[in-house]
Amino acid sequence: MRHGLLLAAGLTMLLGACLEGAVEDGGGGGDDDSNNNTGSGAGSPTGAGPTDLPCDVAAVVGTCTSCHAVQPPVGGLSITSAADLAATSAVDPSMTVAERSLIRMKDGSMPPGAPLSADQIAVFETWISDGMPTGDCGAGGAPPVQIVCSSNSHWMGGDHESKDMHPGLACIDCHQNPPGGDEHGPGLVFAGTVYPTLHEPDDCNGLGGTVVVVTDSTGRTVQATARNTSGNFFIETEDAAPLVMPIRAEVRRGDKVLVMKDPVDSADCNSCHSTMGDENAPGRILAP
Ligand code: HEC
Ligand code: HEC
Ligand code: HEC
Repeated sequence: MRHGLLLAAGLTMLLGACLEGAVEDGGGGGDDDSNNNTGSGAGSPTGAGPTDLPCDVAAVVGTCTSCHAVQPPVGGLSITSAADLAATSAVDPSMTVAERSLIRMKDGSMPPGAPLSADQIAVFETWISDGMPTGDCGAGGAPPVQIVCSSNSHWMGGDHESKDMHPGLACIDCHQNPPGGDEHGPGLVFAGTVYPTLHEPDDCNGLGGTVVVVTDSTGRTVQATARNTSGNFFIETEDAAPLVMPIRAEVRRGDKVLVMKDPVDSADCNSCHSTMGDENAPGRILAP
């Protein structure tokens, strides 16, 4: 292990103090008792992701922090530093937490309901086989991207059917609805999730009340309101005809509006508007 590990705790404290204390309780519910957190002392960082990892590794571990870097940590496991990952696993003392994490990433069970890509897992596996070197993604260089679940409430229902299921995930990826069968849920004309900040983790409940307006290439407009419980919005295929690609989209709240400048060829909004953004998207669909 490198000497950098010794600095890990201190760095995490220092940088953690700068992070928004937006996440305190990993439990569900969107409760309002966040000032009554008995477990953590005043000033202790909550929701701080690892800042002492190489940046590519930090980005992967950032998908765990909405549950494992909150106080108290979900599942009783805290992952807030390289040292936490190097610690002995409580589940299998012959392994480190990092090795257990790799197993849980590979079997697709962590993060729950939102399996990582092969590329993300490869980054983490290479880091372990390189001897888990520390880095300074949070100390100098580019500032770390803070992945925060602003609502502090998570979808824990797996693939259980619900209008609030899997906020943040690419809905239509699952909702293909082949003709003649609906075991994959209703077909969706367009769907996604609205969030209050740009980099929120999968399965984190978003923000309701905004109106998403989609205009297809024939000029037809279809709109849906984001649900208060999850921020999810969608239109089912039984309620509207398919959109003719490419489509334009905007999100409205009162007089405020955010417009997607360039038309796109997919109505699966979260497929691009992911935690870090894919296909050049900046990240999540933001509420204006
Ligand atoms: C939505 C919340 C959530 C997210 C996000 C999440 N976890 Fe978990 N994690 C849990 C819960 C709940 C448990 C306890 C139940 C269990 O083990 O399945 C747990 C347990 C664990 C354990 C301990 C059990 C074991 O098998 O050793 C490890 C390791 C773990 N998670 C790794 C990760 C990693 C790595 C990530 C990110 C890639 C991650 N988790 C993301 C909720 C989450
Ligand atoms: C991992 C796959 C998967 C993802 C991702 C997913 N769904 Fe589902 N969805 C399902 C399945 C499976 C069902 C249930 C089908 C059944 O049992 O009939 C379902 C059912 C539903 C239903 C019908 C339930 C009801 O109460 O009306 C809605 C609406 C729905 N999903 C919306 C969404 C939205 C919106 C998203 C994205 C934010 C989404 N789903 C993401 C797989 C998924
Ligand atoms: C193929 C990828 C892709 C898909 C699918 C997609 N977007 Fe986007 N979106 C982008 C990109 C790239 C940008 C930034 C450039 C731009 O504004 O055109 C963006 C920007 C936006 C913005 C403006 C953000 C800002 O801060 O100004 C909104 C709002 C938006 N998208 C909403 C949506 C909605 C709603 C859907 C689904 C109907 C959707 N997007 C589907 C790629 C995508």
